Amino acid sequence: MSDEILRELTEKFTAAYGRAPEIVSYAPGRIEVLGNHTDYNEGYVLSAAINFGTYFAVAGREDGEARLTAGDLMETVRFPVAAPERSSDAMWSNYVKGCLAGLSERFGAPARGFDAMFLGNIPLGSGLSSSAALECCATFALSRLYGWEPSRLEMAKIGQRAEHEWAGVKCGLLDQATSVFGEKDSLVMSDFRSNEFKPVSFPADVCFLMCNTHAKHALVDGAYNERRERCERAARFFAAALDHPVAALRDVSWDEWLAHRGEMDELDAKRSAHPIGEDERVLAGVDLLREGDAAAFGRLMFESHESSRVYFENSCPELDTVVDAARGIPGVLGARLSGGGFGGSAVVLVNRRDAEAAAAALRSAYAHRYGEPCDVRLVTCSAGARIVR
Ligand code: GLA
Repeated sequence: MSDEILRELTEKFTAAYGRAPEIVSYAPGRIEVLGNHTDYNEGYVLSAAINFGTYFAVAGREDGEARLTAGDLMETVRFPVAAPERSSDAMWSNYVKGCLAGLSERFGAPARGFDAMFLGNIPLGSGLSSSAALECCATFALSRLYGWEPSRLEMAKIGQRAEHEWAGVKCGLLDQATSVFGEKDSLVMSDFRSNEFKPVSFPADVCFLMCNTHAKHALVDGAYNERRERCERAARFFAAALDHPVAALRDVSWDEWLAHRGEMDELDAKRSAHPIGEDERVLAGVDLLREGDAAAFGRLMFESHESSRVYFENSCPELDTVVDAARGIPGVLGARLSGGGFGGSAVVLVNRRDAEAAAAALRSAYAHRYGEPCDVRLVTCSAGARIVR
């Protein structure tokens, strides 16, 4: 959280709408630590809510109009609160409209409108889930404004549906679930079959660096949806080939993949290897954290990246550059891409005492290859979405 952003938002809100906000909520972005593209395959993920996020300020109106302002662009859209429609120019507004639509379907459309504004510090397109943070803080604030009481899981699902139906990305539930279930100093262990989210405490002597490559992060371009379809096709193959029930790739072991990959469509086999291997790595990773073995945990992160690179092909040269550089830096224990892939950020696990030197080394290795350094920030595991005022 950042008091500075909260102050700026309150000032801008008051200047734009001529009164102070009634309610302010906050939702964090997330890093994905282990378990890539496993969420929509009903598998496991270790992730964390981070110390970067978005605030959403709102006050009710007497009429039925909704006014929504992006506090960074100072761009405002207006729409009837009971009938939001997708916007093709102010794309950012669709995340909030989608959440309002989901809440209205569940609780009934509100009669009275609102004035709202949001502002945050998650770099856009960095793979730190700025859109999920926006969905979650909007859902928290609007629920409080109208007296609705969805559970945290319902709020996460409302955000996910906004992505599917209003932004066209068939994402899993990871980003929204991490934003609402995050806990300070802990990772979130998610089981996306039972939808259980448990904190796993994280060793105090290690920390994470996020390295934003600024490479294009193209989830909406269809690469993400295409990967998802391949996984679902592979699950149908295994359901027919194996003699136990397979509802999703979560039900397939690595040994079963090895035994049957030759009978499958070649690309489906390659793609499905990734979530199947990732599930096993997440389960092993939870045990390693319990034993306090951060070094072995870091090795699983490197393996995870290799699996992304080779099987899922959702890495890119910029991310590979960060991960390769990380392997040779003293104090670094692991590194991998984080989130959808195809650009965005890599997450690096490092001994806390070496974090600053490692950050400098990562920047300079990246600049050596690309002329400009990547953006490296220390992130801390933080609490999830909440009402702050
Ligand atoms: C994106 C999606 C998530 C998840 C990750 C990959 O962040 O929004 O649902 O699938 O990619 O693990």
